[in-house]
Amino acid sequence: MSKKLFATPATGLDEIDRVLARLRARFFAHRHYRELQQSFATLLNRRRADLELGSQNEARGIAVIGDSGSGKTTAVRRLLATHPDLQVLQPGIEKAEAVSLSLPSPASVKFVGLACLNVLGYPLRRDRTSAIIWDLVQNNLRLRQTLVLHFDEAQDFYINQNAREMQSMINTLKALMQNPDWPVSIVLSGMPQLRDLINMDPQLARRFTPVHFTKLDPAQDGAPIMKMVAGYAEAARLEMGTDLHDRSFVRRLIHAAAEEFGLTVELLLSAIEIALRAGKSQLCRSCFIQAFARRSGCMPDFNPFLREDYTSINARLLLLGQVPDEANPEPKKKGRKK
Ligand SMILES: Nc1ncnc2c1ncn2[C@@H]1O[C@H](COP(=O)(O)OP(=O)(O)O)[C@@H](O)[C@H]1O
Ligand SMILES: [Mg+2]
Repeated sequence: MSKKLFATPATGLDEIDRVLARLRARFFAHRHYRELQQSFATLLNRRRADLELGSQNEARGIAVIGDSGSGKTTAVRRLLATHPDLQVLQPGIEKAEAVSLSLPSPASVKFVGLACLNVLGYPLRRDRTSAIIWDLVQNNLRLRQTLVLHFDEAQDFYINQNAREMQSMINTLKALMQNPDWPVSIVLSGMPQLRDLINMDPQLARRFTPVHFTKLDPAQDGAPIMKMVAGYAEAARLEMGTDLHDRSFVRRLIHAAAEEFGLTVELLLSAIEIALRAGKSQLCRSCFIQAFARRSGCMPDFNPFLREDYTSINARLLLLGQVPDEANPEPKKKGRKK
């Protein structure tokens, strides 16, 4: 039986807030994450073996590619934070084997270089040329023994950039990986346009291993997703409603989350919050119906947990806040499940 969770007004936080915070901190190792872990271990071991031998062979890279909400940022963050014997950048510690930053806007060669210097704790006060800035970046990476540099939102290297700037950024990335004194591996994570950037230059493409955070596939991912739902429900001390064992439930959940892993977690968390705040002891389909309605602001006709022909609903458009009549297709009055 679920224990009822009571408010503790003294701090303004109630027990439900704390349960939800614990759930948000959970991490589920899905199949794309395991693939990323393997590629990363290969990349790092190769670099470390070269270092041990005293050779400065060129370093390699990984490109984590997926749509927004697929879970790229969370996965790379988790990977770097938990990889054994990898010192991530931390205040007060000189050694920074893994350094991570989100691309600044605009993602010009110069701005990206300045952002790297800032993260490395070497902010510039005076204006310098791109060449000087990147020399400083390279120098700081060597001093801090950085093995891996991660750029998140790396599609911004490509979007809104002219061809010259893009080529110049590609050359900069290659120079980092080929530096004769201290080559650095690069991890790029970003949306599918990132693939176009990498493919612009065959030499760059050759050095990168792609890891695709593809859309969820109900046949392959249905069972692990249900395991995840059960794990989260248990952590929230909720029982699994019998209607969640319905065969179509997991398909509807995946569809409602636009087939993205991260969006599935977000819908699950909203459904759990709805159950807890309503004082329920069970997580059931009605919580997911409400969670989708809240998130999309949509009428029941557009709710994948309700509609019979739910695959015709464009959940990504709805989750991005598009009004129903812009979404595909037109709502039908019939065919809704009771
Ligand atoms: N493996 C995971 N385990 C638990 N939650 C996750 C996982 N991956 C993503 N999430 C959650 O999904 C949401 C979207 O993930 P995010 O990493 O921001 O996606 P992306 O960077 O691809 O847009 C976040 O709220 C995050 O906490
Ligand atoms: Mg992200």
